[in-house]
Amino acid sequence: MPFTIKVNGNSHSVDVDGDTPLLWVQRDVLGMTGTKFGCGMALCGACTVHIGGAATRSCITTIDSIGTAQITTIEAIGGAPAGAKIQKAWLDHEVVQCGYCQSGQIMSASALLASNPHPSDADIDDAMSGNICRCGTYVRIREAIKLAAQTNEKAG
Ligand code: FES
Ligand code: FES
Repeated sequence: MPFTIKVNGNSHSVDVDGDTPLLWVQRDVLGMTGTKFGCGMALCGACTVHIGGAATRSCITTIDSIGTAQITTIEAIGGAPAGAKIQKAWLDHEVVQCGYCQSGQIMSASALLASNPHPSDADIDDAMSGNICRCGTYVRIREAIKLAAQTNEKAG
């Protein structure tokens, strides 16, 4: 049946079963492949998007559960202030290795920074603990989040 979802500021009408995961709609229906499939079971974080500003695993979020909430994906996160700071810090710290997990990492980190401009180490660990990186970029991820938070401090 048809559902209308709002993705990155645009409305999309999609004709899928109600229990279809958002991740499949993004990748297979809308052709937005920046969000990755890792486990399909909410265990790795590769599929993280924002729904209503909250970091959410799109692999277990059914299309009929979203309603009118705004969805933001990696394709548009650079247009949000926190997302832009996180992406710049990622580049400055050369965080990425193979890259597969990184769109999910950036989405979790930008949701953290948007809700908590000055996160403690414990806040960072808490927000990022569900995002797995097989390349082990965790140290650089933490440093990049701190760098982005310092940008907040300089901005006041
Ligand atoms: S693919 Fe969604 S958490 Fe792993
Ligand atoms: S950069 Fe390779 S899995 Fe994270």
